[in-house]
Amino acid sequence: MEVVIAPAEELAVLAADAVEALLRRRPQAVLGLATGSSPLKVYDELARRHEQDGLSFADARGFMLDEYVGLAADHPERYRNVIATEIAERVDWPAEQVAGPDGLAADLPAACAAYETAIADAGGVDLQILGIGTDGHIAFNEPGSSLASRTRIKTLTRQTRVDNARFFDGDVDKVPTHCLTQGLGTIMAARHLVLLATGRHKAEAVHQLVEGPISALWPATVMQMHPHATVLVDEAAASRL
Ligand code: GLP
Repeated sequence: MEVVIAPAEELAVLAADAVEALLRRRPQAVLGLATGSSPLKVYDELARRHEQDGLSFADARGFMLDEYVGLAADHPERYRNVIATEIAERVDWPAEQVAGPDGLAADLPAACAAYETAIADAGGVDLQILGIGTDGHIAFNEPGSSLASRTRIKTLTRQTRVDNARFFDGDVDKVPTHCLTQGLGTIMAARHLVLLATGRHKAEAVHQLVEGPISALWPATVMQMHPHATVLVDEAAASRL
């Protein structure tokens, strides 16, 4: 695991460099997309490069990590809509080439299985962008998640719902209780993992991720087993290393 400690702006440039190098080498690359605030500066940087340097997403595929269950199709916090706004539309990425688990499916387990198949049929994810929750979750794999898990329905912890209430008028009761998420096994199958974390509130999770024993209690620790994982953190998030 490679750990880089730098100011947030530099971390975003490093992550964007990795995405750009991949896309220039392989225009039809498969990117794994994360929501949350951690990747936003990366998406800004990619949008800038698309605009100014002609970085093209026209032939790329994208797969999202997770999705809330039950949010209306036009809800701004539905992750599919968040990804469209934060990255896809800004880089003119054809909508049909960006997929996410279907949190509105009538048969949710079938939607999860179909999502795994879609990722496999695309040849797997080349580069997966990740954030980390304060409790060490990646995607929505909460503490206790099987390290071998695949895309499935999960119940969100109270902590995650409180953390994400800021996107729902600060009202935890408006945060959905369930989600569909790629499993830790799904994420581990990506060829390169790039995790971003900034701020002191992430310090304990980053400490566990890098230095803790591999444990389902801190799901991100599974990344220690990945052959190509890059952890990009600022001074505050690295303060417990
Ligand atoms: C959310 C997302 C995760 C994200 C994490 C951290 O719950 N499902 O994919 O990494 O929380 O969010 P943030 O980057 O806003 O701190």
